[in-house]
Amino acid sequence: MSDFTSNFWSIYVTALTIVGIIACLLLLWITARKKVVATSDNTTGHVWDEDLTEMNNPMPRWWMWLFVITIVFGFGYLAAYPGLGKFTGKLGWTQKGEYDAEMAKAKTELEPLYARFASMKPEDVARDPQAMAIGDRLFMNNCAQCHGSDARGSKGFPNLADGDWLHGGSPEKIRETLTLGRIGNMPPMAAAVGTPEDVRNLAHYVLSLSGSPHDSLRASLGKPKFMACAACHGMDGKGNQALGAPNLTDDIWLHGWGEAAITAMINNGKVNQMPAQAEKLTEAQIGVLAAYVWGLSNKPTAAK
Ligand code: HEC
Ligand code: HEC
Repeated sequence: MSDFTSNFWSIYVTALTIVGIIACLLLLWITARKKVVATSDNTTGHVWDEDLTEMNNPMPRWWMWLFVITIVFGFGYLAAYPGLGKFTGKLGWTQKGEYDAEMAKAKTELEPLYARFASMKPEDVARDPQAMAIGDRLFMNNCAQCHGSDARGSKGFPNLADGDWLHGGSPEKIRETLTLGRIGNMPPMAAAVGTPEDVRNLAHYVLSLSGSPHDSLRASLGKPKFMACAACHGMDGKGNQALGAPNLTDDIWLHGWGEAAITAMINNGKVNQMPAQAEKLTEAQIGVLAAYVWGLSNKPTAAK
């Protein structure tokens, strides 16, 4: 209601509500006033179709009173709670106020819990069933839409449950990833590689690094061209976590494998972004999530 710039709708809604209730009262009063004279056999005396008569069975008094009580309740409710246009009600209740109060209550309840997790080593948090239950819920609400409910990712969204990391898999690195977000940026490289044929040969060399099916003649022709890639992916193709450049030798493909996928990668490059969570989640929540993600690929040894 507060979104409207003029009072018109407020007055309109108020009038409609009050007229509605008064109409109910009026209806009740008019129908109650109409006395039906009953004949000796308790029928109204009306006869249709030769022998169809109407019993005179008025609604019981207590039933009528229920209607009256409902109407009185309606007025009481409208006086106490928001309902009449802009009028906020005598109790000052608001949806937002109730939400804020519930959130504040949950926060005070959870604070000691989060404080305990914050004082623990991430490896120990990953072993704590209560922390992991919280981590699981946080993951489902904030991460699963991109990384999948099993955290195994999909094309373009990394699998978080394997031991392969673009940006580093220590609890500290994962925490950094969550807090600040990450941008994986591979520039289009075709110009640095040469002709389309060179790009194809290089793609076969890249496939050969992980022992994927490839054409070995093309691979050997493409090998020298890998110089253009070594700055980021390393001479041996094992990648560089500081740059977010993936390991090309492990047969794990974020953007698909095969000649076509790799040729496209070389020609077009890729900008891939993990959104920063610092605005959305508290530091304590990020800490629990980082331990949760770490625990997905580092099965904690002795469970408590
Ligand atoms: C909008 C989609 C999206 C959401 C939501 C999202 N991520 Fe990501 N995440 C990505 C993408 C894309 C990457 C890969 C970035 C890159 O290519 O460098 C990534 C990367 C990561 C990495 C780094 C993986 C590695 O190999 O180093 C971690 C860890 C991670 N996400 C965890 C999370 C967690 C935990 C959440 C929930 C708080 C989350 N992500 C929410 C899209 C998302
Ligand atoms: C400036 C650094 C940089 C250079 C140079 C570079 N890359 Fe990349 N490359 C990246 C990054 C970063 C990614 C990951 C993109 C992402 O986060 O999704 C990547 C991803 C890839 C992938 C996808 C891997 C997968 O798992 O799907 C392939 C294939 C690849 N690069 C091949 C090459 C080849 C071949 C060259 C040389 C022509 C090259 N790159 C040059 C940074 C680089």
